[in-house]
Amino acid sequence: MGEGVRVEQESKVRVETEADIVLARQQGRAIARDLGFTLGNATLIATAISELARNIVQYATRGEVILKRIENGSQKGLVVIARDEGPGINDVRRAMEDGFSTSGRLGLGLPGVRRLMDEFNIHSEVGKGTTVTASMWKS
Ligand SMILES: Nc1ncnc2c1ncn2[C@@H]1O[C@H](COP(=O)(O)OP(=O)(O)OP(=O)(O)O)[C@@H](O)[C@H]1O
Ligand SMILES: [Mg+2]
Repeated sequence: MGEGVRVEQESKVRVETEADIVLARQQGRAIARDLGFTLGNATLIATAISELARNIVQYATRGEVILKRIENGSQKGLVVIARDEGPGINDVRRAMEDGFSTSGRLGLGLPGVRRLMDEFNIHSEVGKGTTVTASMWKS
């Protein structure tokens, strides 16, 4: 995010169960719609949230998803911060490749989120946890 980006509002969902994943997804879609995102883009944001929340449950047991409105001049957007204090990722570069999975899954979650969103950042430390930050600006 560049300079002059203002944070307006925040919503936090603790993520530990399947129901939490659904809740985070629904909250994301609702906030995105409230911000004026199209139904299509709100659905993309919701999809990104559920991939990140699912990774938290699957690999880190628990964590949280934070949703914040952001503003940069006349631009409005939404940032999704998914963070956990789980095992972290050994090789983040590989984890971002299509088809890389340590659990025999499709390995499309993280690279998919990067493609869906306008901005994407991942920070992970083995033994400390993982934080993914992804935002979308309203077109
Ligand atoms: N929060 C996390 N904590 C620890 N490791 C993670 C986390 N998120 C992702 N990973 C690691 O990164 C790999 C790639 O994640 P990604 O979501 O792209 O694929 P996947 O979860 O394996 O499969 P898919 O999401 O397609 O079902 C995972 O297999 C896992 O090893
Ligand atoms: Mg995944």
